[in-house]
Amino acid sequence: MSERKFSVLPEHLGIIMDGNGRWAKLRGLPRTEGHKQGSETFRKIGEYAGNLGIRHITFYAFSTENWNRPETEVSAIMTLFDSFLTEAIDRLDENIEKGIRLHFLGDKSGISQELKELMDFVEDRTKHCNKMHLNLAINYGGRQEIIQAAKTLAIKARNGTIDPADINDEMFAQHLYTAGQPDPDLIIRPSGELRLSNFLTYQSAYSEFWFSDVLWPDFSEQDLDLALSDFEKRHRRFGGI
Ligand code: IPE
Ligand code: IPE
Ligand code: MG
Repeated sequence: MSERKFSVLPEHLGIIMDGNGRWAKLRGLPRTEGHKQGSETFRKIGEYAGNLGIRHITFYAFSTENWNRPETEVSAIMTLFDSFLTEAIDRLDENIEKGIRLHFLGDKSGISQELKELMDFVEDRTKHCNKMHLNLAINYGGRQEIIQAAKTLAIKARNGTIDPADINDEMFAQHLYTAGQPDPDLIIRPSGELRLSNFLTYQSAYSEFWFSDVLWPDFSEQDLDLALSDFEKRHRRFGGI
């Protein structure tokens, strides 16, 4: 069901799900409770964005730098990811019916074999869906993504599959995890931090940004509406006039 509230919608929306730890701390709870609540917000906002008609959405769930956290916190996040995957498999028919294609952006080789198999499975089973692309960035780093693209292109050039002179923006973008998807038009970061933290480094060259002090577990449909109504008013020039 489309709610058609906005005259212009981002074709691709990126969301940095930040502030889970501080949300928990404010309530005297362990950080893992913040991640649990944050994962509920992720489900709620993903569904709402789909109802609004946003076609591509990327949620930043775990960065290549987040391995620097205590082992207990990392494994709690991976357990939540496991629950999401199990749920996605349970609801596979429903999601396929809705045309939701799932993509995981990031270096899968750093994720446990068990989770990797589930990720490959849901990606494969939804690869024909094209109403909505739901991207979850997990073990994702923008610099690492650019480096792996450069390596792949270098190997192709050495093999003679491509001519280095033909490398351009389009070819480069085809070697990123977001291949085939538009660049993010709008990137939202809650929790008061004013930085990208290695999110969609290449793709965000001309993105609009929207920051909020709300901590991710508290982020509501109304907050997304605020960001989208602000985005409607932006004048994007892409270097023109
Ligand atoms: C975002 O919340 C979740 C991840 C980075 C995995 P944080 O855990 O970074 O929450 P804060 O920033 O410490 O409050
Ligand atoms: C960015 O949040 C990564 C995710 C939300 C997954 P961080 O909490 O890791 O970012 P920094 O460390 O504050 O820059
Ligand atoms: Mg944080």
